Amino acid sequence: MENKDLQKIVADAEASLATVSSKPSWEQAKATFLGPNGCLTQFAKGIASVAKEDRPTFGKSLNLAKGQVESLFQNRLSELEELENLKSLGDRIDPTLPSIPSFYGGIHPLTKTRRKIVAIFRKIGFTVAEASEVETEWFCFDALNTPDDHPARDEQDTLFLPHESKWANVPRKKDEAYLLRTHTSSVQIRTMLREKPPLRVIAPGRCFRRDTVDATHSANFHQTEGLFIDHKVTVRDLKGVLDYFLTELFGGEVETRLRPSFFPFTEPSFEVDLKIPDLGKLSNKWIEIMGCGMVDPKVLGLVDIDPKEWTGFAFGLGIERVTMLLHGIDDIRHFYQNDQRFLSQFSSQS
Ligand code: DAH
Repeated sequence: MENKDLQKIVADAEASLATVSSKPSWEQAKATFLGPNGCLTQFAKGIASVAKEDRPTFGKSLNLAKGQVESLFQNRLSELEELENLKSLGDRIDPTLPSIPSFYGGIHPLTKTRRKIVAIFRKIGFTVAEASEVETEWFCFDALNTPDDHPARDEQDTLFLPHESKWANVPRKKDEAYLLRTHTSSVQIRTMLREKPPLRVIAPGRCFRRDTVDATHSANFHQTEGLFIDHKVTVRDLKGVLDYFLTELFGGEVETRLRPSFFPFTEPSFEVDLKIPDLGKLSNKWIEIMGCGMVDPKVLGLVDIDPKEWTGFAFGLGIERVTMLLHGIDDIRHFYQNDQRFLSQFSSQS
């Protein structure tokens, strides 16, 4: 019989708490159920009329019901406090609104191209070589067979640095000038001095020139250098590797041709042209894409590699240029302006 009454008390407590909407009315309800004159206390007094042997069961049921009622009150109190907190925030927030969408960072399009290039060359056994962006004249020019009076060495083209001790980790010959590397070809020299042939390296990195910024020029840009040294390497190997690379990079139907050119560090030297059926305005047109050639025996000699035993090829291409072609971008400045409207177009592409 008592159990039924206790269950009713718990149910009544729950029902009356549902109508409680402030702390004072909560206090009042609490007194009605749990206070010294509350119904649970009154109920407890009934123990006097319970047979002795039934008293332990009576006590247990009473405590259980009391625990339930107490926790109902505690939960409601937490709810009331929460509501009070929200109210004190006034109109400033609406907790029922959906949350603001998160912004996810994306990989920069130049980084994506660099990663793509590296992945393609990795498949055919190339490893990545890196070197400092601060260089000396010898690594950037002399060792690459570039004469003193070459226009690239002009103050107007190259950013020379003052002789300061902070560049001391880039070793130099006495009085040799420090500069910001104008191309990644200097990494060829550093690699050949560090490692013995056979060599297959790709060297992506940042370069600097005194260029006036416009739609196709930037004083700070990126290149990828490639170097392959082995026994009996020929122009045919060079063409084979570049055909593989450009087909992988641009996909499907790529035509290439080597056009004679001149670079001080390769002999013979070529420009690589590319023709693609589906490339917007440039579809089916020959486009110059990169420079390359057979490493000049003089360069090999300067880094103590015997040109009678070893031959090789080298190539260099601009990462901005490739990215612009791949995505139909018409202004190099977009890459550096950090404009979300530009960058977000690349954020979901892998
Ligand atoms: N260093 C050249 C440049 O900046 C690019 C280049 C051409 C690199 C021919 C090479 C090469 O390794 O063989 O324009």
